[in-house]
Amino acid sequence: MKHVIAIYPGTFDPPTNGHLDLIQRGSNIFDELIVAILRNPEKEPPLFSLAERRSMLEELTKDFENVRVETFAGLLVDYAMQVGAGAVLRGIRAISDYEYELQMALMNRKLDPQLETVFMMPAETYSYVSSRLVKEIVDLGGSVHGLIPELVEERLHVKVNGSAAAGNAAGGNRRKSASERPGRRK
Ligand code: PNS
Repeated sequence: MKHVIAIYPGTFDPPTNGHLDLIQRGSNIFDELIVAILRNPEKEPPLFSLAERRSMLEELTKDFENVRVETFAGLLVDYAMQVGAGAVLRGIRAISDYEYELQMALMNRKLDPQLETVFMMPAETYSYVSSRLVKEIVDLGGSVHGLIPELVEERLHVKVNGSAAAGNAAGGNRRKSASERPGRRK
């Protein structure tokens, strides 16, 4: 039987319940799943450092025996070759994801025809959840309770508001003025 190693790449800034849902689904169908955090994203600078994202993902995936967390830089196809991966796992939440994902999958196929991209859908409960929106909502004083793991929720509140107490668990975070928010992103 073939042993299939898959990579689940992304920036995970921060990891959401949608990411975790996909990791769980991926771990069920692949022999090994590597959650691979991109080291130097070209987009905006991440809110969480690489070490912080790695430690959150390691904690969140510790019960999955066939999942490990790594980081990578450069081309995904080169990293896939390096770790012997035959598949890339990506999530598609809605039609709006499709165009970007299709382009990326086809470009990766052009670069390495042996590497397959496998798309999976997260549970519909998370179909509207994105790391970008989660950060924006917490930054503006809203609740994201239930959309991200509690561990991430606490760390996000510490990062944005300077304390975990403001908005964890019950989701009742008090709005802070801009000057009160030490970690507020510009
Ligand atoms: O989910 P994200 O954060 O949008 O992830 C994007 C990611 C990391 C999958 C993509 O940017 C990537 O693979 N970057 C590595 C560089 C690369 O191979 N670029 C060409 C992709 S076609």
